[in-house]
Order: sequence, then structure tokens, then C-alpha cells
Amino acid sequence: VSSVRVELGARSYDVVIGPGARHELAALLPHGVQRAAIVTQKGLAGPEGAIDIDPGLDHTVIEVPRGERAKSLATLESVARSFALFGLTRSDVVIAVGGGLVTDLAGFAAATWHRGTPVVHVATTLLAQVDAAIGGKTGVNLPEGKNLVGAFWQPHAVICDTELLASLPGAEWRSGRGEVAKYEFIGAGELSGLVLEDQVRACVALKAEVVSKDEQESGRRMVLNYGHTLAHALEALGLAGDAGDLTDAGDSSPLAASAQRFLRHGEAVAVGLCFAGRLARALGRIGDDRVAQHDAVVARYELAGELPAGADRDLLIAHMRRDKKSKGDLTFMLDGPNGVEPVRGVDPAVVGSVLDEMSKEARRR
Ligand SMILES: NC(=O)c1ccc[n+]([C@@H]2O[C@H](COP(=O)([O-])OP(=O)(O)OC[C@H]3O[C@@H](n4cnc5c(N)ncnc54)[C@H](O)[C@@H]3O)[C@@H](O)[C@H]2O)c1
Ligand SMILES: [Zn+2]
Repeated sequence: VSSVRVELGARSYDVVIGPGARHELAALLPHGVQRAAIVTQKGLAGPEGAIDIDPGLDHTVIEVPRGERAKSLATLESVARSFALFGLTRSDVVIAVGGGLVTDLAGFAAATWHRGTPVVHVATTLLAQVDAAIGGKTGVNLPEGKNLVGAFWQPHAVICDTELLASLPGAEWRSGRGEVAKYEFIGAGELSGLVLEDQVRACVALKAEVVSKDEQESGRRMVLNYGHTLAHALEALGLAGDAGDLTDAGDSSPLAASAQRFLRHGEAVAVGLCFAGRLARALGRIGDDRVAQHDAVVARYELAGELPAGADRDLLIAHMRRDKKSKGDLTFMLDGPNGVEPVRGVDPAVVGSVLDEMSKEARRR
């Protein structure tokens, strides 16, 4: 077990990483706290859960439903009411035990509870360990879009216990690996050969560095978005996203009927990485070898870089114009001689031809 410091002045904190790191929880809580509210999901933590979490003080366990739809203002209200019932004060602590859904939701609940109560994240998915639990972005979704209501609220500490990942379903592993692959292109170097704990630590260290330079995403933090512009568009088209969305849609959904391969977020990022490589080449920023490297890295993480069938290029482009990086134009984070950086005003015709090229490649396989 080792730790990485996220340097943010008075709001600096440690991310404790490694097998068994969960046993450090009690020692990581803010000094003098009396009570804790654990926010988690059914079957994760708590008495009958798989994950043994012991804050070592008086606590209550609040379970929230699974699926991106539960990351809502309605769930936030029910969590806040459970805090009230328990009598949580701002000198107590919120402990989030779960994936990115739980850390985003519980983090936001903590940010707003009594105008700010400390939160400690115990990240239980690979994606949350390498990404979501670090950096202080919290929030919930609206029917109109993801993460539209939220706040920056840095945790007091983060625990990335790699033992907790043992029960993770395959799709969640793949999703996390897509983000790990992303880190290879934004400065982490080759990670696929490392043991899990070291992979997580390298990703956390890079994210920590980026966040401490640009806490509120005014510039440098955008590199964390590499591969995400297309990924978000695939999610908007219903080809990727949260597994819960698919389950909730029921068997009558067109997606279930077509047996369309549904990508988890990080799997869509993997497609986005291969796309970003091709787009950078089309714009003369990188050569064939670097494109091949994108494909090779994605393959090494046992992910597919192909555009899923049914991905309509014009709809994808329309969604990518609405990306938060762009101002009505097409803006991408792209590799080049200076590494990954934002590229604005990309010609939609070039984007279209890269998407067409990817569709053709996918059909050839
Ligand atoms: N704040 C940020 O910077 C940031 C960054 C990336 C993603 N996110 C957010 O994170 C969310 C996605 O997070 P996620 O991919 O972790 O999904 P998730 O939290 O929905 O977890 C995926 C599934 O795995 C289950 N699960 C969690 N831990 C488990 C374990 N140890 N064993 C077995 N099952 C387990 C969950 O119950 C859930 O069903 C999205 O809402 C996204 O917006 C936030
Ligand atoms: Zn992501």
C-alpha cells in the first residue's frame, strides 16, 4: 500500500492505493469526526455486502440504486433526507463506497450537506480508482444531460483498494481499462505490462498532477478528455453508456432487439482513442506509425477500436459539435508534435471522412 498526494494547497489529500488499502479508512477520516454516513449500493458494502468497510465509528449505511438514471436529483434528495434522519452534521463525514456513480453522487451530497461536509471516497471500480474518485468533480444528471448539476468538492481522502476489484464484472473491467489506455497517451507511458496496483498508481499520479495544475478545468485538465469527444457522442446515440440504461430500457428497446453491442464508457473511449489517432493523421499532426500505436495500445488492453455498427456519421458530428470543449465548432483533443492538445475549428468534412474510413475498416473485419 502506498499513496499519491493531490496537491491543492489547504485542500490537498492522499489517495491510498493497493491491496488492503480499505483497512486504512479509520485512520484517514478527518480528525475529531464522531459519525459517518456511508453511501453505497446494494450488495457492495454493509452487513451483507461483499466489501468489508469499517469506519471504526458510529455510522449508517445508505444504499442508492444502480444505473446512471439513479444519479439524479431525486436520489440526491433521498440521500440528504437519510442524512437528516441520521442527524449528520458538518463535523461528521460522508463515505462513498462504490464506482463513479456513487462517488459523484455522494460527493455532491457532501458538497451541499450543511453547505459542505467532508467526504472520503472508497473507489470500488477500476474506472473510479483511476479517474472518477480523484479530482473533486461531483454531480448528478438531468434528463437533459449528464452531470449538468454539480460542484467541485475535493474529497478528504481517497482509497483505491485493488482487492475490492475482484468481484468486478467483465464489462466494468473493460470500461476501466479504456481509461487506463487513455493515460498512456497523455503522459503516463506504457502501463499494460505493470501489475494492477502499479497501473492504478500511475494513472492516479498523472490525474493528481493534472488536477493540481488546473483544478477547475480551464485548460490543462482537458487532456483527461482525450478520446472522449467521440465516446460522448456514441453515448448520446445510445450505442454506449451505462449498463443500467440498457437494463432499464427493457427487452422492448430497439437496442435489445437488435442485439447491438453496447459499449461501457471506457470501451467507447477506446474507440475514441483510435478515432482521435486517425483524425490527427488526417490533419497532418501524426503519422501512420503513431496511428498504429493507438490501435496496438487499445488491443493490448483487450479492447476493440472499431466504430460500432449503426453509428450514423452525421448524428455523431452533430453531437460532437455540442461537446463542452467546443463553441459551436468541432474541437478535439488531438495528438501531435507537442503531445495531446485542443484543436479547434476542425473541418466537419475531414471528421466525416475519418468516420467513413472507420466504418469501412469495421466492415472489413
Ligand atoms: N467525477 C469525475 O471526474 C468522473 C470521471 C469519470 C466518470 N465519472 C462518472 O462515473 C460514473 C461511472 O462510474 P463507473 O464506471 O464506476 O460505474 P458505476 O459506478 O455505475 O459502477 C458500475 C457497476 O459496477 C458495480 N460495482 C461497483 N463496484 C463493484 C465491485 N467492487 N464489485 C462488483 N460490482 C461493482 C456497480 O454497482 C455498478 O452496477 C459515471 O456517472 C460518470 O459520469 C466521474
Ligand atoms: Zn472517461
